[in-house]
Amino acid sequence: MWACVWAAAVVWAAAGVRTGEAACTMAEFPCRSKQCISLDRYCDGRRDCDDNSDEPSGCSPCNRTYYGRVGATYRLHIPRPRRGTLPHFCQLTFIASGDTYGDLVQLSIEKFTLGRFVSHTAAGCPDGYMQIEELSRPLNSGYWCGTAWGHNVFYSETSAITVMLRVFNLTEDNANANPGAFSPQDDVMLGLSYRFLRKERAVLRYGAPYSPTYRGEDVPNTFCDKEFENCDKKNCKVQSPNFPGMYPRNLTCHFHVRQTRVPDGKVALIRVRQRNPHLIYIKDRNAPHLSRERKLQVGTGCHVLHDYLVAYDGNNTREAVLATLCKGGAPLSGITSSGPDLLLVFHASPFDFPFQDSPRRRTFGFELDVEVEFVDRESTAYIREGAACNYTVSSRGQRSGYVQSPVHSLLPNTTCWWRLLAGSTEVVWLYFLHYRHVHHPEMPEPAHCSNTLTITDGDALSEQPPVP
Ligand SMILES: *[C@@H]1O[C@H](CO)[C@@H](O)[C@H](O)[C@H]1NC(C)=O
Ligand SMILES: *[C@@H]1O[C@H](CO)[C@@H](O)[C@H](O)[C@H]1NC(C)=O
Ligand SMILES: *[C@@H]1O[C@H](CO)[C@@H](O)[C@H](O)[C@H]1NC(C)=O
Ligand SMILES: *[C@@H]1O[C@H](CO)[C@@H](O)[C@H](O)[C@H]1NC(C)=O
Ligand SMILES: *[C@@H]1O[C@H](CO)[C@@H](O)[C@H](O)[C@H]1NC(C)=O
Ligand SMILES: *[C@@H]1O[C@H](CO)[C@@H](O)[C@H](O)[C@H]1NC(C)=O
Repeated sequence: MWACVWAAAVVWAAAGVRTGEAACTMAEFPCRSKQCISLDRYCDGRRDCDDNSDEPSGCSPCNRTYYGRVGATYRLHIPRPRRGTLPHFCQLTFIASGDTYGDLVQLSIEKFTLGRFVSHTAAGCPDGYMQIEELSRPLNSGYWCGTAWGHNVFYSETSAITVMLRVFNLTEDNANANPGAFSPQDDVMLGLSYRFLRKERAVLRYGAPYSPTYRGEDVPNTFCDKEFENCDKKNCKVQSPNFPGMYPRNLTCHFHVRQTRVPDGKVALIRVRQRNPHLIYIKDRNAPHLSRERKLQVGTGCHVLHDYLVAYDGNNTREAVLATLCKGGAPLSGITSSGPDLLLVFHASPFDFPFQDSPRRRTFGFELDVEVEFVDRESTAYIREGAACNYTVSSRGQRSGYVQSPVHSLLPNTTCWWRLLAGSTEVVWLYFLHYRHVHHPEMPEPAHCSNTLTITDGDALSEQPPVP
C-alpha cells in the first residue's frame, strides 16, 4: 500500500503538479483547486492548474521570487515587452533557502535578446540591459545587452540573486551585428533555466572535502577585493568572482597575496600558475569565435578596454608589471614575484554582451594556484629589492660556490651580471649543473623574447663591453 502511494507521488512530482492535503511547499505555487505546481509554471502560457488559476489574465513571470528543490531544473521565459509599455522593468529573484532548497543559485541563459550592444566602455547598452544583484553585496554597476549565444552559466556567490531587466527602446535585432541572433519574431527576451545547488557539491569553486579551497579574505567595503596571507600552509586559489561561471561586469578586483612567516635566512617569493588550460578564460573583445585567437595572451596582446588581469611585483599598482593576461585555453606556467608580495588586479569592462565561444567549455573567469617558494637570502636566486641583477663572487671569500639565475619573473629587457673574480694566479672554472631555456607557450613569438647567456673571459666591467 505504501509503495503505491509513493509511486503515485513520484509520478506527480515528475509532471510538476502535486495534489494533496498538505499545504504547498515554498517551491510551489498553490492553485485555487488545491493542487501544487512548481513556481516556474505560473504564467508560462500553459494551463497547469485544473482551474487555470496559474494563468490569470495580464499575469507576468516578472517581479516574482523563485525557490526550488535541489536536483530539479526549472525554466523561465520572459517575453519581450509590448511597444506601448516602455520603459519596461522586470525583476526576478532567486533564493536558495538552505537544506533541500539549496545554498547557491545556478542560472543558465538559453536565450537573450535585449537591444543593441554598442560599446564595452561608454553608453554601451542604449536600448536596455540586464543586471544581476546579489544579496548583501554592493550593486555591481555592470550591464549586459545585445544577443547571447553559446553557453552562459552564472553561479551565485551568495544565497540570493536578483536579475533585473530594463528596456527603454525596442529595436529590430540586427542579425549581422549579433551573429547567432534569434529571429526578430522570437518573442522571448530572456530564456533561462535555473537550479539550486548545495555548497558541498560545488567542488570546482570550494574544493574537495579533503582539500578545501582557500579563496582569501574579503576586504570590507569592496565588491571583490581579497587578501591572502601565508599560502605556504593553505590551499590558496585566486578565483574570479562567481567562478566557475560568468563574472559580473564593471569590476576592478585586487587580489593581494602576501607571505609574513618566513624562515630565518630565507626570502619568500609568490608564484601563481595554472596547469589546466580550461581554468583560465578571460573574455577579450577580439573575435572570440576564431579559434586561433583563443589562446592565453601575455603582454601586449590584450585590449585594455575589455577584460584582463595584471600582475604587479609588490603590494600596490605603482610596482612593476610582471604580466598582463587575457583570453585563455592555455596553461599559465607561472608568474613569480621577487619578494613576499604579489598583487593581481582583474578588470572587467562595464558593458558586454553575454556570449561564450565554446559550448563545451565548462568554466569562465580564472582560477590560479598560489605557491610560496623560499630562497636563500644570500643566494643569486632573486634580485634584491631596489638593487640591480648584479652579483660579484670573489675567490677571496669562497673558493667554490653556486650561481643561479633568478627564479622569479623578470621584466622585459633585464640584464643580469655575475662577476666571478679570481686572484691573478688563478683561473675560473664553470660547470653547468642545469641549463634550461624555457619556451613559454603563452609568450609571444620567440623573436620578441629571446634570452641569451654571454660568457666573457676577462673583466667586462673594466675592459671592452661583451659582444653577444
Ligand atoms: C515590476 O515592478 C516595478 C516596480 O517595482 C514596476 O515598475 C514594473 O512595471 C513591474 N513589472 C512588471 C512586468 O510587472
Ligand atoms: C563602474 O563602476 C565604477 C565604480 O567602481 C563607477 O564609478 C562607474 O560609473 C561604473 N560604470 C558604469 C558604466 O556604470
Ligand atoms: C529608439 O531607437 C530609435 C532608432 O534606433 C531612435 O530613433 C529613438 O530616438 C530611440 N528612442 C529612445 C528613447 O532612445
Ligand atoms: C607594502 O609593502 C611595503 C614594503 O614593500 C610595506 O612597507 C607596506 O607597509 C606595504 N603596504 C601594505 C598596505 O601592505
Ligand atoms: C654592478 O656592480 C658593480 C659593483 O659591484 C658596478 O661597478 C657595476 O657598474 C654594476 N653593473 C651594473 C650593470 O649595474
Ligand atoms: C634594453 O636596455 C638597454 C640598456 O640596458 C637599452 O639600451 C635598450 O634600448 C633596451 N631595449 C629595449 C627594447 O627596451
